[in-house]
Amino acid sequence: MATHNFSALMKNRNDLMEKLVSLCKRRGYVFQSSEIYGGTGSVWDYGPLGVELKNNIKSLWWRSMVYERDDIEGLDAAILMNPAVWVASGHVEGFTDPLVECKNCHRRFRADIPEIQDGQCHVCGSREGFTEPRMFNLMFRTFMGPVEEDAAVVYLRPETAQGIYVNFHNVLTASRQRIPFGIAQVGKAFRNEITPGNFIFRTREFEQMEMQFFVEPGTDDEWLDYWGNQRMEWVKSLGVTASKLRFNEHGPDELAHYAKRAFDIEYELPFGWQEFEGIHNRTDFDLARHQEHSGKKLEYVDPVDRSKRYLPYIVETSAGADRTALIVLADAYREEAVEGEQRIVLGLHPRIAPLKAAIFPLVKKDGLPEIATRIHEEFKAAGINSFYDDSGSIGKRYRRQDEAGTPFGITVDGQTSEDGTVTLRDRDTLAQERIAADRIVAVIQERTR
Ligand code: GAP
Repeated sequence: MATHNFSALMKNRNDLMEKLVSLCKRRGYVFQSSEIYGGTGSVWDYGPLGVELKNNIKSLWWRSMVYERDDIEGLDAAILMNPAVWVASGHVEGFTDPLVECKNCHRRFRADIPEIQDGQCHVCGSREGFTEPRMFNLMFRTFMGPVEEDAAVVYLRPETAQGIYVNFHNVLTASRQRIPFGIAQVGKAFRNEITPGNFIFRTREFEQMEMQFFVEPGTDDEWLDYWGNQRMEWVKSLGVTASKLRFNEHGPDELAHYAKRAFDIEYELPFGWQEFEGIHNRTDFDLARHQEHSGKKLEYVDPVDRSKRYLPYIVETSAGADRTALIVLADAYREEAVEGEQRIVLGLHPRIAPLKAAIFPLVKKDGLPEIATRIHEEFKAAGINSFYDDSGSIGKRYRRQDEAGTPFGITVDGQTSEDGTVTLRDRDTLAQERIAADRIVAVIQERTR
């Protein structure tokens, strides 16, 4: 009985991921990269709605980190950096995973994944066993300039953080900040993961939203707790179900080489509790290493008491934009019966929904399309992403937008030409109200902010 329930549970979990992947393709959220050539291993493209969702997540993050605070500055460092950076950071030597190879099919796996612990290859089924683990560096390498030689090797950055550390003094001087202060950055990172998977959860190309907060040593523990709480509140502000979120503090064996204390923020995805953001106390590890390797002084001199000099400690908040997109999508997906009909809804918070409103003329005559088009133009002028749809029954049009996650439907009907009002339908409550057509843009603006 227990086994049966467990199988049912696993099936439901897989079903949900399959349904989500299928909806993401159907509605234009996420496509497999280079699909017409059979795809590229664990690389994904964001479609028309997906790019809007991810942009909304990134701009809300930027707003909360940079615009709403006086103590954080923005940065956009390059992906390619001097390779010495990655020697100093420890990535050339230590950014590795243990790798084994199936002796039969020669597929390679991370040595620590549960699927191979019984000695059987879960791909070909062979029990011939695996090779001894060898360390595999996760950084992508390429060459700078026309000659492909060791001296020309550069790396695609595996994290955005290092671009911030090497710019610490530039930003400090240019912005005239004082400690404590932070530097925020959003950008691509690349890791040649041995066992990527679970859709956009673990990929080889992804985006990070990282903020490094520079503090006086001794105040670091307090700041770590502060930032943990801030970040948890931010995720909740995206509408994510609070009971599916938790902190997970790293034990002594789990701590990264640079961290004194760290915890993840996790979400309960269909395949278990998973990290989507890490909060780390990195101490002065990074600045000390860059100071040593570059030979440049990276100390902070207190502007009031100039005899007070120190290497700041760093509290890092490091979130994945793609993982955040995955958790909001998984959290928003639901199926329900409405008036005896089954519907699929992506109940995304209006703040992150790709389309804020869809505009429907009830029929294609009596001047209704002209009024609906005018309203659509007003949305464009206000910079609000809206969608015009006059094809199919009104029920079908609502269902399409429910699946796409659009929070509001605006219908222009017979009454509109009589009293100048439109029907506003709420995706979640299905409540319908009449709103003056000339106020509709302001109402949607108010309800999606
Ligand atoms: N600078 C610290 C750092 O990079 P990390 O825990 O390795 O820490 C931080 O990564 C976040 O980046 C993760 O919580 C996750 O959201 C995202 N991330 C890391 N590897 C990823 C991958 N292969 N695919 C998608 N997102 C990834």
